[in-house]
Amino acid sequence: MASSSSPFSRVSQLAVKATILAAVCLLLHGGGGSSASAAELCVSYYDHTCPDAYKIVQGVLVEAHKSDPRIFASLIRLHFHDCFVLGCDGSLLLDTFPGFQSEKDARPNNNSARGYPVVDAAKAALEKACPGVVSCADILALAAEISVQLSGGPGWGVLLGRLDGKTSSIAGAQNLPGPFDGLKNLTLKFQAVNLDLTDLVALSGAHTFGRVKCRFVTNRLYNFSGTNQPDPTLNAVYRAFLSTRCPRNGDANSLNDLDPTTPDTFDKNYFTNLEKNRGFLDSDQQLKSDPGALTTTAPIVDRFASSQDAFFKSFAWSMIKMGNILPITDPSRGEVRKHCAFVN
Ligand code: HEM
Ligand SMILES: *[C@@H]1O[C@H](CO)[C@@H](O)[C@H](O)[C@H]1NC(C)=O
Ligand SMILES: *[C@@H]1O[C@H](CO)[C@@H](O)[C@H](O)[C@H]1NC(C)=O
Ligand SMILES: *[C@@H]1O[C@H](CO)[C@@H](O)[C@H](O)[C@H]1NC(C)=O
Repeated sequence: MASSSSPFSRVSQLAVKATILAAVCLLLHGGGGSSASAAELCVSYYDHTCPDAYKIVQGVLVEAHKSDPRIFASLIRLHFHDCFVLGCDGSLLLDTFPGFQSEKDARPNNNSARGYPVVDAAKAALEKACPGVVSCADILALAAEISVQLSGGPGWGVLLGRLDGKTSSIAGAQNLPGPFDGLKNLTLKFQAVNLDLTDLVALSGAHTFGRVKCRFVTNRLYNFSGTNQPDPTLNAVYRAFLSTRCPRNGDANSLNDLDPTTPDTFDKNYFTNLEKNRGFLDSDQQLKSDPGALTTTAPIVDRFASSQDAFFKSFAWSMIKMGNILPITDPSRGEVRKHCAFVN
């Protein structure tokens, strides 16, 4: 389709896709008593039980953003880290207690994943309006979409109806896609949850906003692959800039913008950065520069760098796919938590 589609036709195309998925849900919930088939999520899941759910979450996010401009980025990352481990089941949100180690403690999350108090605030507001109805896993899905939209990105119909799980997987969380994973391993980790190369590239585009610690770039600046040289796929001007922000023996935890051009805006600049060797993480730049990318991810990076509309369309669809990773819809396996950090 080589049309110059307007934002409106983009949204309506997504609405059509979401409607196709949602139809099944209406059948299950409205048609009564369809037995143990794979239940589906749907956009209208809370229309009768908590019609203001979207607005309530949105209100909490808008409020939180006033004192924390980073919060939108942090919240979408929570949905990603939740969905990749045991599916989108709120497992990330459970707290550690004696005899139970939370995913929050895993290396990719500890001192890194943030925004939990805002999720709790959204949960509290929802419990007030419609007690026991909206799951924490769904709050993360809603917060992700609202965050992208409020940052200038696309909207999509958020599919809902996930239940919260009763357990978590620290091992699964240790195995989340990592900044030092090669392109091959990133591809495999996405494939393992039914996400393809387009999803990998599109979803990586979420690094168009948010912050990142120096510790994830020092090897690229000073000692790439043990060579004592910088990463040759790192733009020299950008390297000089990052070297001042992240000196060799400086604070490994000091923060940088993932996208220095428009740090808090959801746009296609992540991809235009990659075109100029200005990706922050090795896992970012490889999508364009790894030798194996030439016939796989690089053409997709090129496409998104040249068309924000193409990126937004793919991103919205990939978010819906990511949100569909192993949702729990069987009440014998899940619940609607009263508090996101604890099972009921
Ligand atoms: C492709 C594999 C991915 C890798 C290796 C990766 C890695 C990382 C790392 C290392 C950070 C910085 C953490 C820190 O400094 O503490 C980060 C931040 C972030 N990631 Fe990813 N990520 C990936 C995919 C994704 C996806 C799929 C999304 C969402 C759809 C996402 C959204 C974000 C956001 C928004 C931030 C900034 C968070 C904040 O400011 O609080 N990432 N990522
Ligand atoms: C999480 O990070 C803190 C601070 O660096 C550290 O003290 C703690 O041991 C870490 N937790 C785990 C489970 O590794
Ligand atoms: C890819 O994963 C395998 C298996 O976990 C590991 O041995 C290998 O070092 C990884 N390679 C890269 C480049 O991350
Ligand atoms: C560079 O990395 C290699 C391999 O990781 C390591 O053996 C070496 O000590 C590092 N060099 C410096 C100066 O840190």
